[in-house]
Amino acid sequence: ENDILSKSPLRGKKVLITAGPTYEAIDPVRFIGNHSSGKMGFEIAKAAANLGAEVILISGPTHQKLAHSFVTIIPVTSADEMYNAAHSFFKTVDIAILAAAVADYKPKIAATEKIKKKEKTLSLELEKTKDILASLGHIKEKQFLVGFALETNNEIENAKGKLKAKNLNLIVLNSLKDKGAGFKSDTNKVTLINRNETITTFDLKSKEAVAVDILNAIINQLHA
Ligand code: CTP
Ligand code: CA
Repeated sequence: ENDILSKSPLRGKKVLITAGPTYEAIDPVRFIGNHSSGKMGFEIAKAAANLGAEVILISGPTHQKLAHSFVTIIPVTSADEMYNAAHSFFKTVDIAILAAAVADYKPKIAATEKIKKKEKTLSLELEKTKDILASLGHIKEKQFLVGFALETNNEIENAKGKLKAKNLNLIVLNSLKDKGAGFKSDTNKVTLINRNETITTFDLKSKEAVAVDILNAIINQLHA
């Protein structure tokens, strides 16, 4: 009896997850995007559902597939759409894990017609997108908020800075220095940092296994 309970430690919990890249329109046929596969976010969604959670998975454009009765997928394209979707669900969730590789900048104006090749050079004016994670950190009440940090240098310091600045409970540091980690890979090597600045480093492993490590850390902290 106790065993069955311990296998569904997230039963009754609602979890919001963002995944994948965002596409920022330049014109009707072109966009600014990135190489995020969406794999890490989808693995977290699957693992959370397998632990009994009700999952809202807000995903940018990806080829990932996930059919699970506990997972509702909300497809979005741009950072603005992801922002609106995240805000529409955040108040109702217990845990939010923002794994999406949101574009930091978008074209200030998306052309309504296809841009023709006229001049020798073309400049696009870009403006910052809204930081979804920071905006949720700002309005957070009881939610346990988890962010990612993708860093190539001063990794721990930069990740700690994001943890504080965005008012997170936990940050998952993704070091791009590690071979076999990151965007296109099926494996990842992460370091978790919590609010007490406790640092836990994990070995390189499948994104499926990393997802379980992240959720275990969250469950442990919810019980602490
Ligand atoms: N993030 C977000 N909305 C954005 C940009 C980032 O929600 N517009 C989230 C990501 O999903 C991730 C975290 O913020 O959980 C950190 O993303 P990262 O790119 O590492 O950091 P930034 O804050 O964007 O800063 P920079 O890229 O300059 O390092
Ligand atoms: Ca960024």
